Amino acid sequence: MSISEEFIRELKYKNNISDVVSSYIDLKQKGKNLIGICPFHAEKTASFFIYPSNESFYCFGCGKGGDVITFIRLIEKLDYIESLKFLCQRANMNFPEDELSNDSYKQKMTVYEINRLSAKFFHNNLCSDQGKKALEYLKKRSLSLKSIKHFGLGYSLESKFSLVNFLTGKGYSQKDIIDSNVAYKNRLGQVMDRFSNRIMFPIIDIRGNVIGFGGRSLNGNNPKYLNTSDTVVFKKSDNIFAINFAKNSSLKNLILTEGYMDTISLHQIGFTNTIASLGTALTSGQVKLMSRYTDEVILCLDSDQAGQKAALRSIDILKQNGISSKVISIPSGKDPDEFIKYYKDESKIRFNELIINAIPDIEYKLLNIKNKYNLSDSGDKIKYTSEALKILSNIENDIEKDIYCSKLSNEINISKDSIKSQLSKYLSKISKNKNSLNVLPHNLNYYNKDKNQIFSLKRIKAEETILSYIINNYDITNNILSRVSENLFGINFNKKLYLTIKMLILNNKDLNLNNILSEGFDIEDAGKITKIICDYKREYVNAQVIEECISLIENENQKIKIKDIQDINSIELKNYIVTLKKMKQ
Ligand code: UTP
Ligand code: MN
Repeated sequence: MSISEEFIRELKYKNNISDVVSSYIDLKQKGKNLIGICPFHAEKTASFFIYPSNESFYCFGCGKGGDVITFIRLIEKLDYIESLKFLCQRANMNFPEDELSNDSYKQKMTVYEINRLSAKFFHNNLCSDQGKKALEYLKKRSLSLKSIKHFGLGYSLESKFSLVNFLTGKGYSQKDIIDSNVAYKNRLGQVMDRFSNRIMFPIIDIRGNVIGFGGRSLNGNNPKYLNTSDTVVFKKSDNIFAINFAKNSSLKNLILTEGYMDTISLHQIGFTNTIASLGTALTSGQVKLMSRYTDEVILCLDSDQAGQKAALRSIDILKQNGISSKVISIPSGKDPDEFIKYYKDESKIRFNELIINAIPDIEYKLLNIKNKYNLSDSGDKIKYTSEALKILSNIENDIEKDIYCSKLSNEINISKDSIKSQLSKYLSKISKNKNSLNVLPHNLNYYNKDKNQIFSLKRIKAEETILSYIINNYDITNNILSRVSENLFGINFNKKLYLTIKMLILNNKDLNLNNILSEGFDIEDAGKITKIICDYKREYVNAQVIEECISLIENENQKIKIKDIQDINSIELKNYIVTLKKMKQ
């Protein structure tokens, strides 16, 4: 979908960044700019800047930055299009109509409608005479009418044509009905309902659209749960059941279960922050969605071996996306739904106890390896310790690291000092393997992983100055594009940024943050790019300064080549020196 630059310009004009931000935090004037406490990380002294002249913000504490659209994406946890819609609403503007004429958009809208009508149809069935048995079943499973309504549960009739007839009666084509995956064509070419005689669980996205269904068999037919296959609006591996409710829960973390029924039962007793992963192993797409709403997840998976393995895997995948987790184990092999049914009125208190006693991710991983060893055996103790250190080495927070060193020390009866010194040996070994980057401790981004290069701060500054000069003067920089080659940039990020702005200039596009970001940068990059743009001091940078930057970088590139020759043999080395001498002459 393409959104015009005029629209973005008007949207930004009507949503002045200072006004929008000041509806979230207090801002104070500081020179030409405004300053406040950053809403994206905990801080006491203000390091969050608004640059009205650039229509941007940047936080020197956490590096987040961008324009008003980026700000809304971050603070409201919305994606790009959702943020545009949000700002449209705020400014009383209409979202561009051209979107509506787009074919794939139209097809999606049709599938959403068919899903919504199907959900309604299933729900009405459940409340009708034909749905009596199904409703009985749900009552027997202790679901209240209120929960049934809240989750929009339904029933697909035994007849294999009821939904298809209903939808064709509403004017939908067979193709659209099949594309929505609520029906399929059998071998005789008849279009038949996909779901029959099943309890229907609508799956709803964060914007409230019905995107698919899970259907539980009532007569023991296989599979027990039949789910919508992937469609233009539904990708099982990117979606989560009940996230539409959980995202608005006042409870701060999310409880992840395996099943539809587990989730609904937990909501029913007040844990409105519960979600389910739709029967797949947790995927990073699902975790990314979760990370928009929380940084802590309580894993409430089955306590069998498969469930434990899933928990370990989930811990890692969550951690990779910045989410810490805790693991609940439900006693006597029950799933959450059975647990709740068993404890009836007491279930809320009981489940809360489980949450209080949930085991933090690191501890869970330690426990898991500990079970493999007999700690009264010295050999096993050493093996356990070395596996444990591997786990501890992944902890970023020093205090947390220290706590686990103490725990480990008590557990295996070895002094905390030895454990800590072994851990730092282990850590320094890892960082040596990674070609340690002590030169720029806070700036790992500037380390070229594929080339093993480390760059001086001066050089980084020079690359950034060239980039900001081009961006801020792009109407007058035509000849600088031919003067500067992308190979000048040693830092991959800068090279990519340069290629992007060059491409935009050559295509006569505006060099604004939106256009830049849409060329394959993500929201985390918005901060870096904003910093490069806003750091620019028009009064100090001119063509002469840019020439100086270019020669500084060229010099460094020569030095890097010299370093490379440590790896080449003596003949190559001689040739190389000859070439270098020639170049100097
Ligand atoms: P379970 O087999 O543990 O079922 O599957 P459950 O959630 O306890 O269901 P009830 O209580 O018997 O009704 C857990 C989840 O795995 C997915 C579903 O999302 C289910 O909720 N699943 C299971 C499928 O997708 N297909 C299946 O055939 C079975
Ligand atoms: Mn169950």
